[in-house]
Amino acid sequence: MAKIVLGSDLTPEALANPQLAHLVTGGRGSLAFLIGDNACRERLLGTSIHWDRVLLAFEDGAAVGYVAFKHHLRGPFALRPQPFVREFGWPMGWLRFAGFCLSELREWRYPFLLYGLRVSKTARHHGIGSALVQACCQQAAARGFKEVFLEVPLDNDRARALYLHNGFRLLRKRWVPWPPVRSMQRRLEAVL
Ligand SMILES: CC(C)(COP(=O)(O)OP(=O)(O)OC[C@H]1O[C@@H](n2cnc3c(N)ncnc32)[C@H](O)[C@@H]1OP(=O)(O)O)[C@@H](O)C(=O)NCCC(=O)NCCS
Repeated sequence: MAKIVLGSDLTPEALANPQLAHLVTGGRGSLAFLIGDNACRERLLGTSIHWDRVLLAFEDGAAVGYVAFKHHLRGPFALRPQPFVREFGWPMGWLRFAGFCLSELREWRYPFLLYGLRVSKTARHHGIGSALVQACCQQAAARGFKEVFLEVPLDNDRARALYLHNGFRLLRKRWVPWPPVRSMQRRLEAVL
């Protein structure tokens, strides 16, 4: 079974492993128009990770998945303009950075948000995704939150099924069509 660890509990030497930043910056594909492809996202966000907002799953010593969460206005990525300006120059770097900040701000209405979840392709269907979701809910409960929210892309049936199997329910459809996501919520007192 995978071992799940809060990133900030790892040593600085362990966190310096580039495989971890690569894994954690691999999500947010829907924002590719702002933060580019996988390699670009790693350059923009890889040095700005808040490890206290990331749970990592390890199997045989290798990181095979993560779940990131956001609360108290702090998510897994620090908002730093410098990497954007280095990557895209001025003014495009600032424009893209502003867009990224707006998308991050939009989520601050959720008291506790499951921000991102990913399991390496070779490790899927072994229960690691579910274990990460459960561990994330335990983090929320331990901090006194009564519910966990998340947003799932409309076309991601597999993730939606996983969340439904792990106690989440779909919230009402949104009035605004963008971004194309559906909000989900899990009450913690009922299931933990
Ligand atoms: C979605 C994702 C995180 C699921 O990860 P996972 O580790 O495969 O998840 P699990 O193994 O817990 O569950 C997947 C399926 O395997 C099944 N499963 C779980 N343990 C199993 C086991 N030991 N043997 C066989 N099947 C198993 C589950 O029942 C589940 O089936 P379901 O989809 O019908 O519910 C993964 O597919 C992924 O990283 N996708 C890309 C990123 C993504 O979409 N993220 C979500 C963004 S909102």
